[in-house]
Amino acid sequence: MKILVISGPNLNLLGTREPHIYGTTTLAEIERDLAVVGAELGVQVECRQSNHEGAIIDMIQGAKGSVDGIVINAGAYSHTSLAIRDALAAVAIPYAEVHLSNIFAREPQRRHSTLAAGARALLCGFGAPGYTLALRGLVAALRA
Ligand code: DQA
Repeated sequence: MKILVISGPNLNLLGTREPHIYGTTTLAEIERDLAVVGAELGVQVECRQSNHEGAIIDMIQGAKGSVDGIVINAGAYSHTSLAIRDALAAVAIPYAEVHLSNIFAREPQRRHSTLAAGARALLCGFGAPGYTLALRGLVAALRA
């Protein structure tokens, strides 16, 4: 089984970016944890990050046929991008949406996700550990 983990805009700055909201764990540390949990679960985990909407869409389209599940934190695009939702719908790969912060407890414009309705699950508010929790949950759901 192969899981693609996609991180969107500004998540490359984790560690120093608004640490009171997103914590001090870097994306590299999160991706190391994902590799460890992937090995424990016996799944292949590929992690990618982009600040560009079209690049994220290309990653999703490119996953068709080789990826069994997607964990995605699309950052601010989660609130705005019908194009990313359309790409996820087009490839029909089950996905879990993850956010470090509890988007429903933040400003009104962050309380809606364009991706949520199509997601197998949504996990938010656990900070960096949310990524590995989402990975564990998605793999369990795919194996059920
Ligand atoms: C985020 C929440 C978004 O509102 C924000 O734009 C991000 C990070 C999160 O992980 O909490 O970039 O997706």
